[in-house]
Amino acid sequence: MHKIKYLSCILLAVVNLQIAVAQNNSRKIESFNQNWKFYLGNATNATESSFDDAKWRTLNLPHDWSIEGSFSKDHPATPGGGALPGGTGWYRKTFTIPQTSKGKSVFINFDGVYRNSEVWINGHYLGKRPNGYISFQYDLSDYLNFDKANVLVVKVDNAEQPNSRWYSGSGIYRNVSLITTGKVFVDKYGSHITTPAVSEQKAEVVVKTTLKNKLKESQKVIVKTILYNAKGKTVAEATASTVLSGTSAEITQNFNVANPSLWSDVTPSLYKAVTRIQSGSAVLDQYETSFGIRYFSFDKDKGFSLNGKLLKIKGVCNHHDLGALGSAFNVRAAQRQLELLKKMGCNGIRTSHNPPAPQLLDLCDQMGFIVMDEAFDMWKKEKNKFDYHLDWDEWHVRDLEDQVMRDRNHPCVFIWSIGNEIPEQWSKEGDSTGRIIARELASIVRKLDNRPITSANNEVNPSNSIIQSGALDLIGYNYNHDKFGKFHETYPGKKFIASETVSALQTRGHYDMPSDSMRIWPTAWDKPLLTGNADLTCSAYDNCRTPWGSTHEETLKVFANLDHVSGMFIWTGFDYLGEPTPYPWPARSSYFGIIDLAGFPKDVYYLYQSVWTDKPVLHIFPHWNWKAGQTVDVWAYFNNADEVELYLNGKSQGVRKKTNDDMHVVWRLPFEAGTLKAVSRKGGKEVLTKEISTAGKAAKIVLTADRNKIKANGVDLSFVTAKIVDANGNMVPDADNQLSFTVKGEAFIAGVDNGSPTSMESFKDTNRKAFNGLALAIVQAKNKSGKVIFTANAEGLPSASLELIVE
Ligand code: GAL
Repeated sequence: MHKIKYLSCILLAVVNLQIAVAQNNSRKIESFNQNWKFYLGNATNATESSFDDAKWRTLNLPHDWSIEGSFSKDHPATPGGGALPGGTGWYRKTFTIPQTSKGKSVFINFDGVYRNSEVWINGHYLGKRPNGYISFQYDLSDYLNFDKANVLVVKVDNAEQPNSRWYSGSGIYRNVSLITTGKVFVDKYGSHITTPAVSEQKAEVVVKTTLKNKLKESQKVIVKTILYNAKGKTVAEATASTVLSGTSAEITQNFNVANPSLWSDVTPSLYKAVTRIQSGSAVLDQYETSFGIRYFSFDKDKGFSLNGKLLKIKGVCNHHDLGALGSAFNVRAAQRQLELLKKMGCNGIRTSHNPPAPQLLDLCDQMGFIVMDEAFDMWKKEKNKFDYHLDWDEWHVRDLEDQVMRDRNHPCVFIWSIGNEIPEQWSKEGDSTGRIIARELASIVRKLDNRPITSANNEVNPSNSIIQSGALDLIGYNYNHDKFGKFHETYPGKKFIASETVSALQTRGHYDMPSDSMRIWPTAWDKPLLTGNADLTCSAYDNCRTPWGSTHEETLKVFANLDHVSGMFIWTGFDYLGEPTPYPWPARSSYFGIIDLAGFPKDVYYLYQSVWTDKPVLHIFPHWNWKAGQTVDVWAYFNNADEVELYLNGKSQGVRKKTNDDMHVVWRLPFEAGTLKAVSRKGGKEVLTKEISTAGKAAKIVLTADRNKIKANGVDLSFVTAKIVDANGNMVPDADNQLSFTVKGEAFIAGVDNGSPTSMESFKDTNRKAFNGLALAIVQAKNKSGKVIFTANAEGLPSASLELIVE
């Protein structure tokens, strides 16, 4: 028994080794992020190889120059775009390619550049890509020098603004890689994997491989594809041979996988297809594709089901920025966001309103998120003067095709959205533009993939041209939760998804009472905000919302009670830069998040956790620092219990049970300094207890890192929270101490934040004020291993330190 195991381990190692060797010989994918030169402004002759860039700044990608700037309401992006600078930036990278690459194909791949990028290699113009969110590639092969310097130049033009309704960032903000293959190779997005028939017992897997032949003569090739499961064990293989007579060919291989491990939001099992192209014994290319096996359906009455089981898509919408890091993509930062959402019970992500970084989809594959992959925020009609509508005619077909081809192998992708709140929803009598474009986009997607197509509509009446087009598989409603119940009366026989919901407003740690009076800010979407708090805060009691939105609890109740609502995507999981609705300047980031910009959960996070998870929850709020005698509303979100009893300084304030379909309980009591204690009970037995005490003066800084060990790879991150507490360890709920952070050792501070939507402090500083008791420093590893000492100082408080290991 053991012997067999041992043998199969060796065999597996040999296979893997062979793959590794073959990979090295045939296809090399190298990160091209290091050592770029950067200049912000207009540069003349910078496209020439001979241009002297010695004085330019040296940096590593991904890079977002906007996040490094200062806030101003006068930046053309406007506060809606984050009030940070745009402009034109230049990037140059000098590199050598070895002689051994002569005669090979060399491609440069950009995951995303915001925006209007133009690229030159050794003075030769490669092309332009206006769309700031799409991935693209150029073939460098014909213009390279070998064993001599090559210069790649990228001009990024984000000068004309506003071009976005949210913060976009500027620059080469996603990864860049250099891909070297032979002259016969698998094309870009050249492997397409589908699973046309899946059951618990068996899955049919089809791998279509598109080959390219850059040689003049025809090639006889063998295409061998092996499917591996997550443990690296071969589960199926197929070999085909073909003669590549022209420049390209498509090979289809069929497989059966017995007893497949089905991908789901709780068991995100992945498989890998390794396709090897051989000519005789020579390996010409080897291409790896991760994929998943699962089946699903949307039913007009029962909603969504995954692998035969009904499942609600409990999703959030997110924009692409990563708070203090701006739009500069970082896998760990995205992973941390997803981890926080997973713990809340969320299982869905809408990539509002654009194609995401490809690694975000890798993470969603690995962590089990159901993704609505969205293409556009506008079509031909503008939302902002300089937005993508200007590029629509020339680019939309290519951009959408590239998105679908790039993303279609991801098992996490379940829905394509062809647009968000597209102005063409509304049309005058006789104008069929909305219908025509909707049909065109849907047919582009359908040619490439068969997953359901939706659009996110804020016009939910049947007069909506996009819905009228008949091109959608799922009718998507933005908001309008009061109309979910009547959906089938409006759209008989159709399937439903709540593509965007809620848009409630909250400032973490701020509470306006009475908690049962609703703040609708502004009173109507086209009215200015005439009320609102002078300090630009919104209440975190789930009693503040936009006029088009709802409270979290309102929509959650509707969602829980209607079977045909297959899923919803809450606006938003995280606060994001820009769109500070309802407030004008100096507000510069959003209030919509369940989690603030720094990644600190607001109270409503625990509402979702109590409803969407089995994890025992008892969350009481607000803090316990009020004026003596003031009437205070105390709320509790809880689950796995029948009731909660609240005590103030040992005296019971009564037992509360949830009534009707309410998802929280409330006590109203006069404030008295001391300790509030909540006890949740089930069948009379205590489940959880929670205490909040009146905090005294700030006395200490408490530091905690989300991870104490990080990798010495130049990109890994540790998120360090600084909490201001009193002498007894109670968080001081309004603490705004000025903190300064230092790092000694193999790491640096990549960003700081505190979650305040109005702070004018730079995200790239090493100082940050606490906001309602908390601040955050993002520590980034360098490339060497070693010990890191992170220290926080604040006037009048002892300094606090924490040790991190970079390994
Ligand atoms: C929606 C829109 C989102 C965001 C949100 C704010 O209508 O789709 O992009 O603007 O409103 O409430």
